[in-house]
Amino acid sequence: MTRRDFVRMSASAVAAGAAMKATMLAPAALEAEAATGRKIRFVIVGTGIRGCDLLKAARQVPTGECVGAADLYKTRHLAAKEAWGGDFPTTRDYRTLFERKEVDAVLVATSDHLHRRVTLDAVAAGKDVYCEKPMSHSVADGLAMVEAVKAGNRIFQAGSQRVSSILYAKAREIYASGRLGEVHSIDAQWNRNSPGGAWVYPIPADASPQTVDWDRFIQDAPARPFDPVRFFRWRLFADYSSGLGGDLFVHMLSGVQVITGLNTAPTRALSSGGLYHFKDGRDFPDFLETIYDYPSSNGGIQVHVHCNQNNNDADERISFFGSNGTMVVTGNSVTFTPQDVAPHFEGYGWNGMTDAQREQGMDEWLAAHPAPPPSVIPNQVESYTVPHGYNDTADHIANFYRAINARQHVVEDEVFGNHAAIGCHMANYSYFNRTIATWDEATKTIKG
Ligand SMILES: NC(=O)c1ccc[n+]([C@@H]2O[C@H](COP(=O)([O-])OP(=O)(O)OC[C@H]3O[C@@H](n4cnc5c(N)ncnc54)[C@H](O)[C@@H]3O)[C@@H](O)[C@H]2O)c1
Repeated sequence: MTRRDFVRMSASAVAAGAAMKATMLAPAALEAEAATGRKIRFVIVGTGIRGCDLLKAARQVPTGECVGAADLYKTRHLAAKEAWGGDFPTTRDYRTLFERKEVDAVLVATSDHLHRRVTLDAVAAGKDVYCEKPMSHSVADGLAMVEAVKAGNRIFQAGSQRVSSILYAKAREIYASGRLGEVHSIDAQWNRNSPGGAWVYPIPADASPQTVDWDRFIQDAPARPFDPVRFFRWRLFADYSSGLGGDLFVHMLSGVQVITGLNTAPTRALSSGGLYHFKDGRDFPDFLETIYDYPSSNGGIQVHVHCNQNNNDADERISFFGSNGTMVVTGNSVTFTPQDVAPHFEGYGWNGMTDAQREQGMDEWLAAHPAPPPSVIPNQVESYTVPHGYNDTADHIANFYRAINARQHVVEDEVFGNHAAIGCHMANYSYFNRTIATWDEATKTIKG
């Protein structure tokens, strides 16, 4: 075979070199930490769906202990104890828990519109705070929280738990290694196709003004008569929630931030979408997509985020498209696929030329590339997965406890959490105002 023949064939040989290297990642042994540091005594405010999940995850972290819970719906006092698997004082009024000196920290898992109030009260009582995502319900809320945490010199962690995942650590390592080449395009999606995925959550039979402290729920929200739909399905309503932006975009933007190291608000956001199926009186679209511009030292990064509540063809995934390869992060895997960037004679452009021109083109190309291309292209796909049952929320809680003991900021601190939340608010601003949303750092506001 002449070198000419080889060059002609090399493009079709690319796939032949591909191979898969699969690795199972090992989680940290949290039980082994029991002997280190002081045990953190925490109380939790909000013991609904997420609060109970936090308590279950916290059981895996022996360096902390739940010593009290507050919730506005009475039956959830029992749900909290079941989730934790033990007893502790419960109340509707979290302030009685914050008064207790032995309490180190507060886990905040209320509806979004009360994150600010509970966080500011916790900080004022001298407690460290783990606040569920999205950190804020508005830009003003987020800025007030950043300010209060800083002034109170508290440890704060926002609750996008993927930031502490061993999967995301692997993705960050691959990204930082430079093996992706230049990355300017990131695509993030998270889809669902069920009523529960669209927040049509159960309303318990015992829900009433006697079992629910409605007045406390509508603090910092417009006054209304008791409405169990608003209480149990608050994600549908802008008074308490930020819709898909605050529920799902925030996880993906936090993922992009931690993997790329970009800790900043986007500069621009352009959204589209619509409310197509769940026309049940909700305020938010059930399909939302946003293109963000992020400033970056490599010239810029576009992040395309899209969430569909009427199709689940591909679940949670973030794809990073680099000049040397592609990395895809899903709920339980990271895959890195390098691209063949070795120089090749590209015959396509010579179609429509004469045979003599094409032959001359190849002669020139061969002269410019005297070394033969590698006979086997190093095209190994790497895949990393987590063991079945791995719980990144337990790792996130463990990071919070470690930070409290060490008095050191976590990665997803108030500034990081605020940046991700601003991205969510920009998505909604663009969607509802039908304009490009821009972040004005000088005034710290979103402008149209
Ligand atoms: N990190 C994640 O993966 C994740 C998953 C789900 C929800 N979340 C977040 O967790 C938070 C809670 O969501 P949810 O699905 O559990 O909602 P939920 O409605 O099931 O529970 C919220 C609970 O907060 C309580 N609450 C509200 N205000 C309170 C107050 N002032 N004092 C005491 N209790 C109060 C309510 O009584 C309710 O039981 C939200 O911010 C949500 O975005 C995060």
